[in-house]
Amino acid sequence: MSSLEDLIPLVNRLQDLVFNTIGSDTLDLPQVVVVGSQSCGKSSVLENIVGRDFLPRGTGIVTRRPLILQLINIPTNGTAATPIPNDSYSASNHSGNQTNSSVSSHGADLQPILNENNSQEWGEFLHIPGRKFYDFAEIRREIESETARIAGSNKGINRLPINLKIFSSHVLNLTLVDLPGLTKIPIGDQPTDIERQTRNLILEYIAKPNSIILAVSPANVDLVNSESLKLARQIDPQGKRTIGILTKIDLMDHGTNALDILSGRVYPLKLGFIGVINRSQQDIHANKCLRDSLQAEKEYFLTHPAYKNISHRCGTQFLAKSLNQTLMSHIRERLPDIKAKLNTLMGQTEQELHSYGDKAFSSPQSRGTLILQLMTKFATTFVSSIDGTASEIST
Ligand code: GDP
Ligand code: NA
Ligand code: MG
Repeated sequence: MSSLEDLIPLVNRLQDLVFNTIGSDTLDLPQVVVVGSQSCGKSSVLENIVGRDFLPRGTGIVTRRPLILQLINIPTNGTAATPIPNDSYSASNHSGNQTNSSVSSHGADLQPILNENNSQEWGEFLHIPGRKFYDFAEIRREIESETARIAGSNKGINRLPINLKIFSSHVLNLTLVDLPGLTKIPIGDQPTDIERQTRNLILEYIAKPNSIILAVSPANVDLVNSESLKLARQIDPQGKRTIGILTKIDLMDHGTNALDILSGRVYPLKLGFIGVINRSQQDIHANKCLRDSLQAEKEYFLTHPAYKNISHRCGTQFLAKSLNQTLMSHIRERLPDIKAKLNTLMGQTEQELHSYGDKAFSSPQSRGTLILQLMTKFATTFVSSIDGTASEIST
């Protein structure tokens, strides 16, 4: 029987399909959304979770379009033998028998991240179907130029998302969304109401009940001024689906520490706060590699007098694990809703197909048939894996 872990790639695939056909909001599938003020370290956190250098980051406004990032775990030496290649944005996506491929049972590798030289890792963009990016520096350049193509080159932001998938044996199965940061004062081509626009964009993503909010706050700014926590509280007042991330712990004033915050004594969040240390701007200039920086982060928490007793629940690797667990229990909790929506959607699709007559079903490669097959498979796997029963969703 498949585990819940196996369902996340399926969720990802369905998300793509729905995005490509019906519109992205229909199913409201689970995802992790990163929010915070500009330059608080959002992109750095994401990059550390993925374990590769590929995101534009730095001081000033760098992230100017939403980035929907799907991490897909593949077995260490398998490509062809896995169902994953069918999941790609390649042209073959809409032909052949991809819906018949089984979802293999590969649990995520939980001690990943530290390996940087694996040729089996690649990225694919939705806007460039069929092309695999093995060079992660090239992925970054593509994000930059695709950002500029839509949002211009003078600091403007645009709500149109960039969709990127990363295939790797060193990632956990997660869907992450990187967003432009909150800013107060317009610069460059930004409109006078940039703050309101960015706020609305963020709210739109975190308002979805299936979103897990990664509220990033820099440790060197007083937590009462945290923009991300203010926003998150607006949407999730009880703190049920908000994870607090405290960045820049290395930049706190000497003699102060974040122990109270990390121990939940300052701000109540059911899912708690996790402290991380990302690369500094100087590290970026010096091309400090991720492996070294993750190792340095680990040692920092292990040896720091304030954190050594809680070091097992600090840092990037702990964050990646917690995210994965949170996402899975979140899916479990949201399942009744997803099932109901799926049911409606399947009914509608079926009706629509019937209105086309038999033609819609005649070709095995017809889009309609594929959609229906995929949804059916999704529903069946979903229900039987989680409820341990046969499908409750009629087809
Ligand atoms: P974003 O605008 O929120 O996406 O932030 P970025 O990830 O682009 O980071 C903004 C700047 O802060 C960059 O220069 C990073 O090097 C730096 N930075 C981010 N996190 C940390 C951290 O934990 N420690 C230090 N020293 N610098 C950080
Ligand atoms: Na920035
Ligand atoms: Mg950013």
